[in-house]
Amino acid sequence: MSKVLVLMGGTSEEREISLNSGQNVCKALEQKGFQVEVLDLNKDNLNQIADIAPDVVFIALHGKNGEDGTVQGYLDLLGIPYTGSGVATSAICMNKIITKKLLSYEGLPTPDFIIMKKKTFDRAAFVVRSLVQKFGLPMVIKAATQGSSIGTYIVKKENEILPAIEAAFQYDQDVLIEKYIDGTLLTVSVLGNETPCVLPIIEITSSNEFYDYESKYTPGMCEHLIPARINENLQSAITRISEETYKSLACRGFARIDFMVDHKGQPYILEINTIPGLTDMSLVPDAARAVGISYEDLIERLVKLALEK
Ligand SMILES: Nc1ncnc2c1ncn2[C@@H]1O[C@H](COP(=O)(O)OP(=O)(O)O)[C@@H](O)[C@H]1O
Ligand SMILES: [Mg+2]
Repeated sequence: MSKVLVLMGGTSEEREISLNSGQNVCKALEQKGFQVEVLDLNKDNLNQIADIAPDVVFIALHGKNGEDGTVQGYLDLLGIPYTGSGVATSAICMNKIITKKLLSYEGLPTPDFIIMKKKTFDRAAFVVRSLVQKFGLPMVIKAATQGSSIGTYIVKKENEILPAIEAAFQYDQDVLIEKYIDGTLLTVSVLGNETPCVLPIIEITSSNEFYDYESKYTPGMCEHLIPARINENLQSAITRISEETYKSLACRGFARIDFMVDHKGQPYILEINTIPGLTDMSLVPDAARAVGISYEDLIERLVKLALEK
């Protein structure tokens, strides 16, 4: 019987979601007969990982100090295998700006964007005007390394631009300004290592203006439509793009890729989540269930993928 240590909680903005993910993961692992240990990770209890000496670590942390490669690096040093992607991929995908640069290099579609640096940001009126000229309104303003829609602003009026940029700088030194894509929000779950499998595409509808924190985590405020209401051509294009994205960023275990599709049917990658939510109402478990993989089977499969060389 393998001993699995579940890391959950942590110190990021997404702590509550991680606790929820982690509790579900623990239950599933116990049902599958694993010996389960739990650690609510912080800087003072890191050394307990080595003391517990698990065969494998299940990282159910989201956001900074969990999803961003730091914990992965620590586990690499200890020589303990873990679920999900490695150090470099985790760090890259945590940063939306670096991710978008790599996607552009690979010729994978992502909305046009520019980068603003807190240190050199010019609050002048002409900056705002040139942003409106380049992107039009609405435009999207995002902190580079947040998740769960924290630090993401969809701005409709010119006078909201500066406050949104300032708000995003509260979270990050780097902020991206992105073209707003009017259309449909889709998310694609991918499972596997060298030969990844793309699970059914989910369309997300939200009763709020966009898929914000509230609509993500309040029951009944969003709907997951499986299958997504898109034609077969678009479905195969998005499946191919997802597989290419997963491989070119060297993801492992699993990942969830968020897309917007505009009214012309052009898909754009918004971001790659290397530790997507694993709560009861999360998207990856829903996509897995749609192909007959139960939540427990999904969690067991992630552990097996972690142990694959
Ligand atoms: N360029 C965009 N055009 C339209 N909507 C967007 C755009 N970028 C983000 N959104 C909306 O904001 C949500 C969160 O953005 P995302 O980039 O996925 O970051 P995260 O989920 O990490 O907060 C998306 O699910 C979508 O509803
Ligand atoms: Mg997202």
